[in-house]
Amino acid sequence: MRHSVHVVLPVLVSSAMIAHPECNRLLQRALLVSPGGAQTMSKRAERFPAGYPLFLTHGSGVRVWCADGHEYVDWICGLGALTLGYCHRDVDAAVFRQLSDGVSYSLPHTLEAEVAEQLVATIPCAGPDGMVRFVKTGSEACAAAVRIARIVTGRERILYCGYHGWLDGYVASRPEHPGVPEVLAGLVGSFVHNDLNSLRAALDAYGIAPAAVMLEPALNSHPEPDFLEGVLKLAHAAGALVIFDEMVTGFRW
Ligand SMILES: Cc1ncc(COP(=O)(O)O)c(C=O)c1O
Repeated sequence: MRHSVHVVLPVLVSSAMIAHPECNRLLQRALLVSPGGAQTMSKRAERFPAGYPLFLTHGSGVRVWCADGHEYVDWICGLGALTLGYCHRDVDAAVFRQLSDGVSYSLPHTLEAEVAEQLVATIPCAGPDGMVRFVKTGSEACAAAVRIARIVTGRERILYCGYHGWLDGYVASRPEHPGVPEVLAGLVGSFVHNDLNSLRAALDAYGIAPAAVMLEPALNSHPEPDFLEGVLKLAHAAGALVIFDEMVTGFRW
């Protein structure tokens, strides 16, 4: 079944008027076995206006189809990960090639160093001695960066701004953190995006110099002129490292 094309986000179109009986049926099924009916909060039905498509069956380029067969232009593209769109010919061909050679070996694969070299060459701040450690999730990458900062500085406190995953070390900085040991809250603080005064206050709090200041360079809005430079200046003056979590921004700043 094909209908006219609708845009998923950010433009809210009249999709509320489209029927989604299959999406709704799948949601009820998923709610019985998955918290919130999805494996990440950003995909939960409650994040979208009523009547939005909830389950996708396939995609091609920038287009996706929901479980009820409606076609959409997907402005989100895999929560931002699929910058080349769905089923890109070259990407898929490389994946198929690798599948025919096997996956997940018991020793490093020859591609690992090759990809690491390309990343070091592509990321300016990696510098000539930059090294790469591949991890499986953004939460792990953030936790690894924090651990390195603690080792390098010999300090423990971390100041956060933005979202940095679901692991205890970061979640302790959120006002509510059920299940996270309270002792961890004493090792973290937070500050507000585009607000250097909030960073100054967080740096002064407790009189304990932090190991690192971690932030998403952009949140729902771009960083204001001089904000990122100001963060670097304040953090470095306190002897702290700055960690840009580029999980979403992808080295655009
Ligand atoms: C900026 C940022 N950092 C870290 C994470 C955590 O990544 P993951 O869900 O892969 O653990 C996310 C996830 O949305 C994120 O947006």
